[in-house]
Amino acid sequence: MGKVNSAYGNARAVEIPRIDLREQHRALQHKINAALRQVFDSTAFVNGPNVRAFEEEMASFLDVKHAVGVASGTDALNLSLDALGIKPGDEVLVPSFTYAATAAAISHHGATPVFVDSLPGGFNLDPEDAARRVTPRTRAMIPVHLYGEAAPMAEIMELAKAHDLLVVEDVAQAVGGYWNGRRLGSIGHTGCFSFYPTKNLAACGDAGMITTNDDEVADRVRLLRQQADASVLGGQKYTHPAVGYNSRLDEIQAAILRVKLPHLDSWNRLRQRHAERYLSHLRDSGILLPEASRNGSHVYCLYTIRCERRDELRQWLQACGVGFELYYPLPLHLQEAYRDLGYREGGLPWAERLSRECLSIPLYPELTGEQVDRVAEVILEFAEGKAGVQAEEAVGREL
Ligand SMILES: Cc1ncc(COP(=O)(O)O)c(C=O)c1O
Repeated sequence: MGKVNSAYGNARAVEIPRIDLREQHRALQHKINAALRQVFDSTAFVNGPNVRAFEEEMASFLDVKHAVGVASGTDALNLSLDALGIKPGDEVLVPSFTYAATAAAISHHGATPVFVDSLPGGFNLDPEDAARRVTPRTRAMIPVHLYGEAAPMAEIMELAKAHDLLVVEDVAQAVGGYWNGRRLGSIGHTGCFSFYPTKNLAACGDAGMITTNDDEVADRVRLLRQQADASVLGGQKYTHPAVGYNSRLDEIQAAILRVKLPHLDSWNRLRQRHAERYLSHLRDSGILLPEASRNGSHVYCLYTIRCERRDELRQWLQACGVGFELYYPLPLHLQEAYRDLGYREGGLPWAERLSRECLSIPLYPELTGEQVDRVAEVILEFAEGKAGVQAEEAVGREL
């Protein structure tokens, strides 16, 4: 890898990446290859036995009545909103500080995303700010369990009850997490999962799932994901009671996900152990560290820290060969895509501050303790002001 100039001298090649998928794949390669061979031998590439089995296994894992596989996390949101009847003119509360897919699903239904600020001091949606933004047109809200941290579901469900709102949980970053003893994705009207390769339960491509305890919603999703062909629910083939999608979960991805699901809880525990190790090193550093919310777990899909001198810190990490990413450098309410909605800078101050201060550092189950220690050491050097001194020394050596 080439060298990049930064304020702290020449950046080293990335030695500890933000995420590395190779080790997990290597460990399960034989089982995955065997599962894939079965799929190829059977040639049941679509709507095959692995999709059905994975749906049953996930429903039991999450303790929900229905788990319906779809093509991606984005489609899980799209089909959820469709099945729940979100339509033009409706307003849907959504955090501004999230991935674009969460809000895009609202816009694709002709509804209006109403952006909600983040909890002061946290990363998730602020229920009090959400309450202030409820209008007679508000139909639903989409709490996101951001980075793997359970959103404050008690307040969210209370607000939903008070205003008769539908709740769509975006669980893309928090599969396997809990809130109050229940798995995330089993609390709202639907749960939307992504199995994108960097998620805690990762396919080898795109894949997603919708969970619900509502029989009608589950049937509607099953219908919609397959061009709304009536035969899906026992009707006549090539008759279409609705406008559907092609959004089936791929049999190949389902076979891979079935190999991985039994490991998910232990992988999440490893993520939590790494987070504890970061905490033990960095708790007095002045860098703000992530923590689980009250009554909720954190499964650390991402380990995101906050630092007022974030841009200097990222240059230092780059100079030291530590991988990082900014999730997300611009909140949705300030994106060009939503300019028409009329939000202004300063309108959602916490979301804007998070975008300026957030930085995600390496965290994945296969990271070693030594790697965690090294990343923490690099951050401590920065926090203790040694980064500037070392940079000056390096410049001195070059002169
Ligand atoms: C919070 C959130 N919602 C939705 C999605 C969309 O999932 P997918 O990429 O599987 O479409 C993602 C994926 O990154 C996400 O992080």
